[in-house]
Amino acid sequence: MLLLHLSDVNEASWARAFTEALAPYPVVRRGDDFDPADIRYIFVWKPKPDAFDGLDNLKAILSLGAGVDALLKHPRLPDVPIVRFVDPDLSQRMSDYVVAHVTMHHRQFSRFYADQKARAWNQYYPPAARETAVGIMGMGVLGQDAASRLKPLGFEVRSWSRTPKVIDGITSFTGSVEFDAFLAGTDILVNLLPLTPETTGILNRDTFAKLRRGRLAGGPVIINAARGGHQKEADIVAALADGTLGAASLDVFEIEPLQQDSPLWSIENCYITPHIAAISTEESGVRYFTGVIKGYEAGQALPNLVDRSRGY
Ligand code: NDP
Ligand code: OXD
Repeated sequence: MLLLHLSDVNEASWARAFTEALAPYPVVRRGDDFDPADIRYIFVWKPKPDAFDGLDNLKAILSLGAGVDALLKHPRLPDVPIVRFVDPDLSQRMSDYVVAHVTMHHRQFSRFYADQKARAWNQYYPPAARETAVGIMGMGVLGQDAASRLKPLGFEVRSWSRTPKVIDGITSFTGSVEFDAFLAGTDILVNLLPLTPETTGILNRDTFAKLRRGRLAGGPVIINAARGGHQKEADIVAALADGTLGAASLDVFEIEPLQQDSPLWSIENCYITPHIAAISTEESGVRYFTGVIKGYEAGQALPNLVDRSRGY
């Protein structure tokens, strides 16, 4: 039996879609009449503290989120495998966001928009894409997809990950020893890391100061589409004010929703979106997790397992 435990999304609609896709396999929601001991899979998003109580025969936890940082902090998380969401649809959506923001900053949107408002005719020619380096922190599912879409646009693409990567046309950097070298050649820094103790607060003043200067007119740029816990917002505000950063695109925040009194809202070269860079849609989520359950019931291995010791 599959139990749905989804907060802040339309659980009833997901339940209808799963019931149809998995039939005759039983699907229940919180509040339905069922014995918790019959639950083999639980599909979660923002689980409440009692989410897993009584689920003594659970085989796997299925995470609607690609990021599992919050789930791993659940106080009563059972010791069963966790499958996270990985799907080309999600990757495409994230890459759409990344490409839009990279190209906007590359072509100096902030500068020309300010000139337009001032009715100023200032001819400045941005560097070619091949003269502009995009550094992607996190070369996993989403980082690799973004890289594969940026590369054909002509950008120099570099990556930073925990373990070495060999990807055609991409200069790869690994671990803390190569972090500074990675930053030193990066004009536009894209964050697609998972939030772990090692990556918390990585978007800070020290990091910004090590990015390459002189290529993009206003200064280097950061794009954070991963987690708010990666960024120190006070440092971003200061870096945008003193020119350490030329611009920022932020989809995620230390506290979500972003607090009304945050100074980030009114900084002209800070582009805010409300954690919408990429969504796990009902269609792709039901298709993916139906495949996971049917495959596991047929004796296949569970895909995309979370490694709790790494934190992602
Ligand atoms: P993956 O697990 O596939 O990739 C993570 C990457 O980060 C890997 O390359 C990994 O290195 C690297 N990494 C992890 N820890 C470190 C470290 N300490 N130092 C250097 N590199 C490190 O994750 P996804 O690509 O699927 O997703 C990334 C994140 O995107 C999610 O965790 C989530 O927080 C966020 N996200 C945000 C969304 C939004 O709408 N804003 C939507 C979906 C996801 P290695 O390859 O060596 O393991
Ligand atoms: C995710 C997210 O992790 O939407 O999937 O942030």
